[in-house]
Amino acid sequence: MDTPKKTLVSLFSKGLSRAFSQIPKEADTVLIDITKSTQEKFGHYQFNSAMRLAKPLGKSPRLIAEEIVHHLEKDHVIESFEIAGPGFINITLTSEYLSSIVDLIAKKGCQPDQKRHQKIVIDFSSPNIAKELHVGHLRSTIIGDCLARLFEFQGYDVVRLNHIGDWGTQFGMLIAYMKEHVPDAFEEPKGYFLSDLMGWYKAAKAKFDEDSKFKTTSQLEVGKLQGGDPSSLKAWKAIVDISKQSYEEIYKLLDIRIEERPESFYNPFLNDVVDTLQKKGIAIESEGALCIFLDGFIGREGEPLPLIIRKSDGAFNYATTDLAAIRHRVDVERADRIIYVTDAGQASHFKMIFQAAEKAGWLDKTKTRVDHVPFGLVLGPDGKKFKTRSGETEKLIDLIH
Ligand code: ARG
Repeated sequence: MDTPKKTLVSLFSKGLSRAFSQIPKEADTVLIDITKSTQEKFGHYQFNSAMRLAKPLGKSPRLIAEEIVHHLEKDHVIESFEIAGPGFINITLTSEYLSSIVDLIAKKGCQPDQKRHQKIVIDFSSPNIAKELHVGHLRSTIIGDCLARLFEFQGYDVVRLNHIGDWGTQFGMLIAYMKEHVPDAFEEPKGYFLSDLMGWYKAAKAKFDEDSKFKTTSQLEVGKLQGGDPSSLKAWKAIVDISKQSYEEIYKLLDIRIEERPESFYNPFLNDVVDTLQKKGIAIESEGALCIFLDGFIGREGEPLPLIIRKSDGAFNYATTDLAAIRHRVDVERADRIIYVTDAGQASHFKMIFQAAEKAGWLDKTKTRVDHVPFGLVLGPDGKKFKTRSGETEKLIDLIH
């Protein structure tokens, strides 16, 4: 399909030779000067050549304009003409024609010059179970989705991953509390909402801090969960399901497509990750915890800052999972590029993960590009971290509504 200008030039060329047979055919396209209108009220385009034709044709420009208009085919393209001033022809295009042009641009207009054969993993949104998405997750969700759309448009194979925080010691406390107070939630999770979970979490936390018996039960619960005890797993599953309902509501509202690849997905790989790092001498014990010491990470007092991959209580953490995840994304997913979209506060976490993965031989930066895409805090009008009036973290769903 030709551009509007090219189409108009061809229509005017035909009209001109029909109106004035004495004009040599080769000359007519040269004579056709069509430009965009200078003002919207004059229409979309204008024909400027009538003045130039006055001398060779021995007629007034307005008369020439009238003759041309009389001989023009509108051809679904032109809605109306208007002869203006000394002999301009203002042209208004039909909406039908304009929409077909827009449609074409949307479908084909800016096609990438070549098809890319690379795979890009984008880790974004990634909220934490049993917590509401907060305004910061909006940034990760939107930035991640924009990146995914841009790369998809360019023809890359994009894998959109939701690294949901669905595993960790905090679940022990919540499960222990729910087993005591709302055991039916495990059977019928559908009747409960994330707001209920948040309430139970608060109550559980308070109880944990003051009731030593409950504290022990909670800790035992973590062990049971990690050991795969069926009743604990069922409880955990209910918590995940309740939380996910509310994420899905948000993704639907924002039109976000994303694949769940939660932290728990990497559980089966964690032991091997840790063993390998230990065998290679990359991870060493320090004050009971298993740590990786990396170049350039120094604390305030000049002490080396460790990347902890197993806490002194034996639990794996955020870093352990991220190491398993990067290994999986390179080895199994075969990503050519991995992008993480989180708040800037996690910048050094990712620097450490990338460096540790390189040290372990799981990441070769000449083959796989890794990027952390950081964003800043969402600030309130007072320039401080955005909170609700009562000082609570703003829930994303309330903000969207
Ligand atoms: N759950 C984290 C948060 O809410 C984000 C996870 C980002 N992805 C990752 N692979 N660490 O901040």
